[in-house]
Amino acid sequence: MKNRTAYGYFDDERNEYVITRPDTPTPWINMLGESDRFTGVISNTAGGYTYHIDPANKRITRYHYIGVPEDRPGRYLYLKDRESGDYWSTSWQPVLKRNGYTYECRHGMGYTTIAFTYAGVASENTYVVPLGQNFELWRTTIRNVSKETRRLSLFAYNEWCLWNMVKDTFNAQAIASQGRGFVRDDTFYFHPFADAARNQQDCAFTQYYAFFACSNTPDSVDFRRDKFIGPYRNEGNPVAIEQGRCSGFYAPGGYHVAAAHHDFELRPDEERTFLFALGTCDEPGEEQEAVRACFREHAVDQELAKVKEFWSEFTSVLKCSTPDEGFDVFTNVWNPYLARQEYFKKVNYYYTAWNETQYSFRDHGQKAINLVTFDSAIARDCMETMARLQFQCGDNYHSWSRLGGPCADRGFSDDPLWFVYLVYTYVRETGDLAILDQSYDFVDGGNASLYEHAKLCCDWTYANRGTHGLPRIGTADWNDCINLKSEGESEMVACQFVLACHRVAEIADLIGKPDEAGHYREMADAMKACINETCWDGQWYVRAFDIQGNAVGSAGNEEGKIFLNAQTWAVISGVAEGERARQCLDSVHRLLFIRCGLKVLTPSFSRYDPLVGAIGVNPKGLKENGGVFCHAHTWGIIAACVAGDGDRAFAYYRAALPYYQDPDIMKTEPYAFAQFYASDEHPEYGLARNSWHTGTIPWTFIAATQYILGIRPSFNGLEINPCIPREWDGFKVRRIFRGTAYDIDVQNPEHVSRGVRTIELDGKSIESYVLPHDAEARSHEVKVVLGAD
Ligand code: GLC
Repeated sequence: MKNRTAYGYFDDERNEYVITRPDTPTPWINMLGESDRFTGVISNTAGGYTYHIDPANKRITRYHYIGVPEDRPGRYLYLKDRESGDYWSTSWQPVLKRNGYTYECRHGMGYTTIAFTYAGVASENTYVVPLGQNFELWRTTIRNVSKETRRLSLFAYNEWCLWNMVKDTFNAQAIASQGRGFVRDDTFYFHPFADAARNQQDCAFTQYYAFFACSNTPDSVDFRRDKFIGPYRNEGNPVAIEQGRCSGFYAPGGYHVAAAHHDFELRPDEERTFLFALGTCDEPGEEQEAVRACFREHAVDQELAKVKEFWSEFTSVLKCSTPDEGFDVFTNVWNPYLARQEYFKKVNYYYTAWNETQYSFRDHGQKAINLVTFDSAIARDCMETMARLQFQCGDNYHSWSRLGGPCADRGFSDDPLWFVYLVYTYVRETGDLAILDQSYDFVDGGNASLYEHAKLCCDWTYANRGTHGLPRIGTADWNDCINLKSEGESEMVACQFVLACHRVAEIADLIGKPDEAGHYREMADAMKACINETCWDGQWYVRAFDIQGNAVGSAGNEEGKIFLNAQTWAVISGVAEGERARQCLDSVHRLLFIRCGLKVLTPSFSRYDPLVGAIGVNPKGLKENGGVFCHAHTWGIIAACVAGDGDRAFAYYRAALPYYQDPDIMKTEPYAFAQFYASDEHPEYGLARNSWHTGTIPWTFIAATQYILGIRPSFNGLEINPCIPREWDGFKVRRIFRGTAYDIDVQNPEHVSRGVRTIELDGKSIESYVLPHDAEARSHEVKVVLGAD
């Protein structure tokens, strides 16, 4: 049991977060399903929704975003005592018993359980998506823990959306009018009908069915929300439950739900299990075999075991043991879990009500840079998709959707550079040089090798420079809210470009193209000189120039004097060296470091400035306007490591880690990163928003493992060069690299931050930081001693 708060704790033996009271400050959620195929988003009181592939266009159940913090509807299992007439929810919501209950929710990797005891009846619900299936399983086991025989009723309930969630919001009557359903083989089937002659968007998914299967034949059913809940009531007091049975009414059209009622009796200590499956199929009945297999005795436990095994395997790539508990819990379990879930589930959390089914080139690219460590096939797939979104000129489409293909937005100046890093990281992790020769189509015709695609990214950036010689910002750079009317120039992209050119040059050297390597190094040097000439502001680097040539992020400005990314990227890219690197990072530490991390800028903007862009639309201290934008914060950790300051790097890491926040202030999940914290320039200082959706997830893992622990793949082997807090005595890591397990023991007898004194590989001393990779070896023992030079 670790890090206990008023709301719960980390169970590190079972890799679960245990929530001990239902009224968390916001719904604390989990994701069911391990891929982008089928997803259940579930809160600690069983709120949330389900979708197949596409959350906007193939939505199965409804969720009311603007109901936050109401958190409804959800996957509801009600119990009723038929003697007393009292009824309750086995997940606390939506009936909300005020007292007399015990509650525990466990969010594990890919499953959630909720235990609830009330009035002498103990229930435990398990929610899981079996691997490879298009449905989520609900199991409820109800035990009589009282001394009398109990006459009980169970009501299972969920509400359909079917399928177009956007239309469901603005034109609900249309979907309602089209909806129809029936029960067959103890299974509800629903489908909306639309005239096939209507446009694609309207009818694309009408051939599909949603189903809700029951393990036992219901005693009564309801198909309609108005019948089950009743007029002027809500999910907390459904009329059907008060009356003790569902209406059985059916007519096509109307707001559809699936409600199934079962009467049963339990002697003292007796228990009974009911199972339900909620999912989608192309034809009614085709799902029955898979569903009924899961309804057999012990099948749910077996499916659960498979899901646990899947995640245990996925997260086994790197395991560490350090003096810091939160670091270990996150690095070993939650950070990898979130990395995969956020990649596949994208923006489907609790704060988005818009049609966001698109994957963004830059966001997905950054996530893939991290996921290559866990599963190179995922990263490869992403990299290949990105290559095919590139134009012959080197620009690319900014997003794509799985069902609809590329979206017609482009011109984001940072996009191409993430692609270069992805190619570079992929090759370093896998050692797969052959892929560089592989040919990929451009989105506008023709094709080129992966290596050429990467080169083009740099060429495009270089060709699009503004009057200061820095890359023009285009639609925006990494910061969506700095637009600078497209002709403004970005120092951050300039730094990213320098790094990207070095990456391309390293690859060129590797594949025997020294002339090309030289060419990209020359471009990098020219840009580096330009940044140092035009962007140094005295104590830090400016962030950008607007179209009138005014510096954004300068000490001379009244607002937005200093921007984090301008400094971190200057250091990460090697643009800032020596005294300038020290000075700009000191400025960051002095002006931007607060209790919950590094602010993205300060002072925040009090109003919208059309020359800068949308940034001032956000209130002061929130999001990109001076909040601790956690994604950008992570580059502060990396920059501190690049500069060799392990104390600072770790202080930054810890400051923003959800593990160490006060849940009453942060409000979001202690086990999930959030997009931002409100800064000290906002009244709700320390409040987190938009948990789960964030580039913080990949970059925190990279910062923790490749920079703080300093275990970094390189072309020839595994490089070891930690940058840790001086107080650490050392740490241990097991890292699987290209199929070989490296057990690494790092000792820090002199309490330094950085400096490898000796490395022994299987008892033999080696000279370099890089452990040469031997594909034949299954495992290696590595001993590292740090020390001052
Ligand atoms: C959001 C966007 C991401 C962008 C960031 C900063 O997280 O998803 O693409 O880089 O905001 O504006």
